[in-house]
Amino acid sequence: MRVLVVGASGAIGTRLVPQLIARGHVVIGTHRSPAHAAKIRALGAEPVQLDLLDEPVVRRMVLAAEPAAIIHQATALADMRDFKRFDRGFAQTNRLRTEGTDALLAAAREAGVRQFIAQSFASTLYERTGGPVKTEDDPLDSNPVAAMRETVAAMRYLDETVRNAGGIVLRYGGFYGAANDGLLEPIRRRMFPIVGSGDGVMSFIHLDDAANATVVALDHDGPGVFNIVDDEPAPVRVWLPVLAEVLGAKPPRRVPRWLARLVAGEAAVVLGTESRGASNAKARRELGWELRYPSWREGFVAAYASIEVGSASARGLVTRT
Ligand SMILES: NC(=O)c1ccc[n+]([C@@H]2O[C@H](COP(=O)([O-])OP(=O)(O)OC[C@H]3O[C@@H](n4cnc5c(N)ncnc54)[C@H](OP(=O)(O)O)[C@@H]3O)[C@@H](O)[C@H]2O)c1
Repeated sequence: MRVLVVGASGAIGTRLVPQLIARGHVVIGTHRSPAHAAKIRALGAEPVQLDLLDEPVVRRMVLAAEPAAIIHQATALADMRDFKRFDRGFAQTNRLRTEGTDALLAAAREAGVRQFIAQSFASTLYERTGGPVKTEDDPLDSNPVAAMRETVAAMRYLDETVRNAGGIVLRYGGFYGAANDGLLEPIRRRMFPIVGSGDGVMSFIHLDDAANATVVALDHDGPGVFNIVDDEPAPVRVWLPVLAEVLGAKPPRRVPRWLARLVAGEAAVVLGTESRGASNAKARRELGWELRYPSWREGFVAAYASIEVGSASARGLVTRT
């Protein structure tokens, strides 16, 4: 079918486009930066430059492209560094998730698009009470910390709006698997500490598995919401030392909550100590999705060991504890 991937030049988009084409789909891929047209063309898709916040242009582009399906993967996180002003760092992404989603859905309705899939995020979304691993039926965080309020609200908005329109929301885990993943540099420089107890749970997903889940979700009629995460949600105190070792970095520092709050802000404390992970049981069951990297343990080694250390698996890092 004809598939329009909005945000085809990004981390997930560049993994998704080749998998869609391998499945026989014809792909139109959008980019924001003019320089990224060549990247999309090289992946085998037809590039279209688009600002998703320009609603009349979105409408014209969707009507001209005549896609059977739209996959919304647009974010603006390439420069996201400042956890202290979390909402400020996410401000443009929040607009892409609210105004951008509205513009795409309106155009999709007018163009008779049959399938709509949009990106959300699992780990910062769920209520920070109860068990450490959440399903799609569990409540979302009703009282996010002040620094993350707008970001959680934008994800909630996308979630409800897309589902109400009959579409599919994919709540991805934390992406990894690219050489420029945002976590790597801070961990190498020992700037990513274990905060307090380190009990904040993270669900990860390798970019190739995230892309594959998105491809198989096209076969689901919708509406639906799925956690697209691996099998092993883990507290920071468990995964961070393993990733540091895979990268050949020194073990992470430990800092008390009050110090992390002062230096990195409340969002960093919450992510490090209170966040919940997510279960992929529904996606495995209803989408028939299978993971190439069921745990970040083997995924981190596969993704990064060749960059920094060749022998991580030989040193037992992929053995579950
Ligand atoms: N679940 C997760 O953990 C998660 C989710 C998202 C991102 N990230 C991480 O954040 C980092 C940056 O992500 P990224 O590389 O995907 O870059 P990004 O800056 O977030 O861009 C993603 C895509 O959205 C497009 N885009 C940006 N602004 C747009 C706009 N106004 N209208 C239409 N499209 C727009 C970009 O186009 P151009 O590239 O042409 O500007 C790109 O195709 C990566 O390390 C990634 O792994 C993680």
